[in-house]
Amino acid sequence: MTEIYQSDRIDEAAQQLRDGQLVAFPTETVFGLGAIANNDQAVQSVYQVKGRPSDNPLIVHLAHKEDLFAYVRDLTPDQVSWVKKLQEAFWPGPLTLILPVKEGVFAPTVTGGLDTVGLRMPDHPLTLELIEAVGFPLVGPSANLSGKPSPTKLDHVRHDFDGKIAGILASQPTRIGVESTVLDLSDPRGLFILRPGQIGKAQIEGVLDGVKVSYPDQLTVAADDQPKAPGMKYRHYSPHETVYAVAAERMAEVIQANTDKAIFCAGQEASLAGLPPVAQTYSLGPSLETATQRLFDALRKADDSQDIDLILVEWIDAGEASAGYQNRLLKASSQVFA
Ligand code: TXA
Ligand code: MG
Repeated sequence: MTEIYQSDRIDEAAQQLRDGQLVAFPTETVFGLGAIANNDQAVQSVYQVKGRPSDNPLIVHLAHKEDLFAYVRDLTPDQVSWVKKLQEAFWPGPLTLILPVKEGVFAPTVTGGLDTVGLRMPDHPLTLELIEAVGFPLVGPSANLSGKPSPTKLDHVRHDFDGKIAGILASQPTRIGVESTVLDLSDPRGLFILRPGQIGKAQIEGVLDGVKVSYPDQLTVAADDQPKAPGMKYRHYSPHETVYAVAAERMAEVIQANTDKAIFCAGQEASLAGLPPVAQTYSLGPSLETATQRLFDALRKADDSQDIDLILVEWIDAGEASAGYQNRLLKASSQVFA
């Protein structure tokens, strides 16, 4: 049975984690699947229960900024200064930093054989309290089965893992809705954003006074290549039915071209008004923020609906602010009508 822990039972949840059990926890981005990061068996069961390939490393979640320095090694003066500035500006918050990992501090499977580790301090009071109570950092991949949209609600975690993990720390739907920005500070060639998120390149560069940050040339690579971010080679967020990403101006046209299909259409409030009738609509709310927050819920709703043949999700282009939204929607989509 999977226990639902309310905020008054954090100590019990922490005890489970210390005993090597898995407890999912909320963050500001998505829910994470927690295990104590120094117990290799516990960490291995995270991969197992998610169905996650063992070469896709896990992010380690810290309760305090300064803890980072206990887990990394041989930082250059530049790296130290970048870390301090970025922590000051963005932690706790949705920014994961990749740095050379100190040997032996984490269970070997945490890093999937790499000599670097991803670290972040989540912006969620209950989870910070949980990590504190455990007394050691927690690994926390998104708490979804591999290939499913990341969980932004308690019910999503339950849907994927009920009966398979010890517990879930309960909370409201997560505020941001897409996973953290992953920034690689370990590459001598420069600073790279391996996964776009709410914190963008311009914001990061702004904090690092003039240091250049880049996106790698390709954000996805063939499965047999060695990608910079191991997670990038896997297709994510794939509902069973076909997904098209469709700009608001083209939604009516795409609906009209598919009148033989039962369509699930997710769009911003204003975009849904006045469309030709479809089998099911889903409101992404009034703004890019609400759309980002609800995107995974929309994909899950569509996936769970019987009798849907085609899923249309509004393509939103708001420059870099929409990079995280676009990246996740692209991974789910087979075509873009922009
Ligand atoms: O917002 C988030 O980051 C959520 C919440 C729960 O904190 N966690 C999350 O974890 O998204 P996960 O495991 O689903 O995604 C981690 C990503 C993967 O793409 C992985 O390949 C990359 O970070 N990653 C982890 N460690 C890495 C490393 N040492 N080098 C390069 N990429 C790494
Ligand atoms: Mg994930």
